[in-house]
Amino acid sequence: MNDKIRVAVVGAGNIARAHLNAYVQSGRAEIVAVADVVEEIAQARAEEFDCKAYTGHREMFDSEDIQAISVCTPPIAHREVTEAALERGLAVLCEKPLARTVEEAQAMVKAADRTNGILMTALCHRFHPAVCALREMITAGRLGQIIHFHNRFAFRFVGVENTWFVNPEIAGGGILLDTAVHSVDLFRFLVGEVESAWARLHTTLPGLKVEDSAILHVHSTEGADGVIECSWVTPVSEAAIWLYGTRGEAVVDYAAAELRYRLEGDDDWTRVPDEGPNRFVGEINHFLDCVVNGTKPTVDGREGLRALEILAAGYRSAKSGCAESTAE
Ligand SMILES: NC(=O)c1ccc[n+]([C@@H]2O[C@H](COP(=O)([O-])OP(=O)(O)OC[C@H]3O[C@@H](n4cnc5c(N)ncnc54)[C@H](O)[C@@H]3O)[C@@H](O)[C@H]2O)c1
Repeated sequence: MNDKIRVAVVGAGNIARAHLNAYVQSGRAEIVAVADVVEEIAQARAEEFDCKAYTGHREMFDSEDIQAISVCTPPIAHREVTEAALERGLAVLCEKPLARTVEEAQAMVKAADRTNGILMTALCHRFHPAVCALREMITAGRLGQIIHFHNRFAFRFVGVENTWFVNPEIAGGGILLDTAVHSVDLFRFLVGEVESAWARLHTTLPGLKVEDSAILHVHSTEGADGVIECSWVTPVSEAAIWLYGTRGEAVVDYAAAELRYRLEGDDDWTRVPDEGPNRFVGEINHFLDCVVNGTKPTVDGREGLRALEILAAGYRSAKSGCAESTAE
């Protein structure tokens, strides 16, 4: 008997491949179909993953016996696809940002509540093994009281000016909605709830309607501070989290694939190599667990909504020049 979970993916571009590979690696899913508005992309991905191709998600939902979907379209389509799936009783893993705006995300959370459905936000860094190990250290009190968080996700996104990522109608914003959405979620996951946010936005590339770099300062309800840096235009790729507490400090170094820490009294750094599974496999496995057990994802629609509320406060602050409350 085939007791695998029957899944499909809507939007078959870049990140869809990570979802599809993770479904394969989980060994627990049967990939039934993919849908993409561009027929050649749908066909190519269907051939690659040996499943059916559709150009419309509604047609796919009506024609196939599916239990769960990944939404891997640009943000403009997240709400429509998610609501259509939830109405049919499908579990949804929706890519970040959950939506373009707080209002859209609120509607998606309401749809999940109304249908009693599963809505997970694909904030994959929560499943990065070194981040999980760091969270365990914090929870066990090994770093003491957390004072400062610093995170940088920056790289040169060649040709970004020709993509949907810089179209505010499609993306909802610039790099804050692309990478800082992960960063604010990481701050909440590791440090705590965000009370206020302050951002300074930079637009370096000519003719762009959105920010291509930003600095965001977040302040927690417990008094800790976070500095988040992000850029699409700096040539050296950097992805790291530095965390400073009263009893020690720790670094999640994505390039070195390790967590390293140095506690009070230590003469040197202790290095913990990241031995996987990769964060997409961890994310997909959690989603599949929720589908099988009918449980709520740890990173549900409300968590995705909260990240957008913090970024909205960041955008408001960039206009006002003052830190803004994250309360909606
Ligand atoms: N978690 C991560 O690390 C990560 C990384 C990259 C992208 N993303 C997110 O994943 C989403 C997709 O990004 P991408 O880089 O894969 O973009 P992409 O442009 O490579 O792929 C998106 C695909 O969706 C298709 N599409 C557009 N509207 C559609 C619709 N209504 N129905 C079906 N298909 C539709 C497009 O034709 C395209 O093939 C975005 O929300 C992005 O922010 C997340």
